Amino acid sequence: MSSKKICVLMGGTSNERDVSLVSGKNVVDALVSLNKYEVIPVVLDRDSVEDVPDCDVCFLALHGGWGESGGVQAALDKRKIPYTGPGAKASQIAMDKVKTKMVLEMKGVPTAKWTLASPGTEASPLPLPVVVKPPCDGSSVGISKVQAADEWKPALDAALAAQGGKGEVMVEAFIEGREMTVAVIDGAPLPVIEICAKGGWYGYDEKYNSDETRYPFPDDPFLPLVQQIAVDAYRACGCRGVTRVDFRIDAKNRPFVLELNTLPGMTGHSLVPKAAQQAGLSFPELCDRMIAAAKCDG
Ligand SMILES: Nc1ncnc2c1ncn2[C@@H]1O[C@H](COP(=O)(O)OP(=O)(O)O)[C@@H](O)[C@H]1O
Ligand SMILES: [Mg+2]
Repeated sequence: MSSKKICVLMGGTSNERDVSLVSGKNVVDALVSLNKYEVIPVVLDRDSVEDVPDCDVCFLALHGGWGESGGVQAALDKRKIPYTGPGAKASQIAMDKVKTKMVLEMKGVPTAKWTLASPGTEASPLPLPVVVKPPCDGSSVGISKVQAADEWKPALDAALAAQGGKGEVMVEAFIEGREMTVAVIDGAPLPVIEICAKGGWYGYDEKYNSDETRYPFPDDPFLPLVQQIAVDAYRACGCRGVTRVDFRIDAKNRPFVLELNTLPGMTGHSLVPKAAQQAGLSFPELCDRMIAAAKCDG
């Protein structure tokens, strides 16, 4: 029997291209080490899968943009090539924080109070402190916290600038407390990781440049509830395969879902591989499970 042919898609046109190239290389090395697949690295330089050869499964090591928002998923559905991670519809929901909020609220999954603000809005529509964010970006780009009234305009402008100055931005109640993230794999939660960032804010620098951000495995009696809510959020959005759910936990230990990441990082520093490791699943085993769950729609 010939071995399965796996194309590992990486790169892409989003502002997360560089991280994706690292994820992709890591995945290629892991799959080669399993010694059971024919592994083909494919670096995408445009929003198209035309250059992807016919294969048994596409492993999506893309992050952000067309790769994470349902574009590549719909294109692979058309070609009937199974791929790792959620389908086109779930990807579209998760990539848009407004759509995510609507789905979560409809299904009763706890999430922070929110509203939208348009250019020219003079003051925060919600009581301070709030967080202002572009609905369709990632990596904390364009996100700021507003504590005092005079911080409103710069925060609104920064979020608008991140989306080309157009459209509406999301305003969300600031959840004072701890930050945690839960990876869900095939509908089951992995151990909860706490994110301890300097100043309690996990911005771009704290994500990618700081040595001071710590990622311990916490030990609190309410963690099973956080895991259950992560699974509820995953199901509400119609995810499959692996998705990482980000949380803030308030002073009363109440969890609030911030957002879902349908193509989370797969680098050596990434959180999903770390959580898998804690559950006894090595990185190559994790990649193998993701391939086993690969599907396409239509
Ligand atoms: N409502 C909020 N309350 C407290 N902190 C928040 C809130 N929203 C975002 N943050 C902070 O900003 C970071 C990035 O926000 P998030 O919604 O996860 O967007 P991204 O897609 O950029 O990761 C979070 O990890 C958290 O540290
Ligand atoms: Mg996040």
